[in-house]
Amino acid sequence: MDRELRRPGERPDPSLGITRRIFLHKSVLAGAAGAATYGWFPLINTLDVAFGAEAFKFAWISDNHLYPKDVNTRFVDKATRAVKDVQAMSPPADFLIHGGDLAQLGDPVELGLGNDILKELKIKKVYIPGEHDWYFDMGAKWRQLFGAPNWTFDHKGVRFVGLDTVSRGPDYWTAKKMTAKERMGHMATLDGSVAGAWAGVGRDQLEWLNRTLGSWPKDKPVIIFSHNPLYEYYPPWNFWVRDWREVHEVLKAYTNVTNVHGHTHQVLYNELGKMRSIGMLATSWTWPYAPEGVPALTRCLVRVDPGDHFDGVGWSRLTVSAAEKLENEYVMWRKDILAEAPWDSGCADNINQTLQPRIADREWPYYGAYK
Ligand SMILES: [Fe+2]
Ligand SMILES: [Fe+2]
Repeated sequence: MDRELRRPGERPDPSLGITRRIFLHKSVLAGAAGAATYGWFPLINTLDVAFGAEAFKFAWISDNHLYPKDVNTRFVDKATRAVKDVQAMSPPADFLIHGGDLAQLGDPVELGLGNDILKELKIKKVYIPGEHDWYFDMGAKWRQLFGAPNWTFDHKGVRFVGLDTVSRGPDYWTAKKMTAKERMGHMATLDGSVAGAWAGVGRDQLEWLNRTLGSWPKDKPVIIFSHNPLYEYYPPWNFWVRDWREVHEVLKAYTNVTNVHGHTHQVLYNELGKMRSIGMLATSWTWPYAPEGVPALTRCLVRVDPGDHFDGVGWSRLTVSAAEKLENEYVMWRKDILAEAPWDSGCADNINQTLQPRIADREWPYYGAYK
């Protein structure tokens, strides 16, 4: 896909190049275990972007997938831990972006519980929805708690945009006479074979994005938050937005665009045209890497320990530095971070992905018809 969009010699910014300053501190366990073990230190991607900005930090939390407390407190514990971690940042983060999937089944009780947990964090907070927040009542409770699902604001030399990539799912439920609960049940699975290509930006929001960016200089930094990645990673799990080509039509004139997204629950990095995308960790669980389409620039997360539910999950601390860099620091509550051997991650077999034919073109030939 990158080759489709990037003309010869074009990169996200010619002065930059990605310097992935990945701290590969081997833990003392490495020798003993004989495995690739990068212990206790956060993984940091340094993205050189031409910020003329004042230094500041912000934090990302997403994919908490909360059940009501009487069903399960495991995910509550992890969301609470992330909030406490962010609250303890010194100096404090300028704001928190919550990247969606606060709830597991869209239950108003789950969303209310999430809101109560997030209330403990006393900094500014902004929110975008995930599909798990939306499809029980079509976003009614989420909107009541958190407001509009897309928005923009400028902060210290950066234009931030929050996109709604979840609310425009094609109606598969009316003809099948599904209840709200049944609809939500289908949205809560990774497999999109019933719900179809639900992830999208939509024409109205694309026009809004175009207008929003129209007043912003082309070389100034733009950071776009979305629940789903803004490129085609793996459509059968909706690890994409179906109208990603149109998104890039809007973005291609801008040289400093970073997309920070949730939904994939794994360490993920990609460049597409002039845009970089960074996938965030969940607090709930890790998803496996997809069977194909893992971006070649991704340095994969080690497979997690299924006996330790704090393993492989966490949140992100992001810094816009005065030295004109955006740094993403995965704060992962685990012992190991990056895989060294193919069998450590489950994604190395796919890393040399076959680009043609596109999965979406095979499976959803009419995706362009969606609004
Ligand atoms: Fe999620
Ligand atoms: Fe999601």
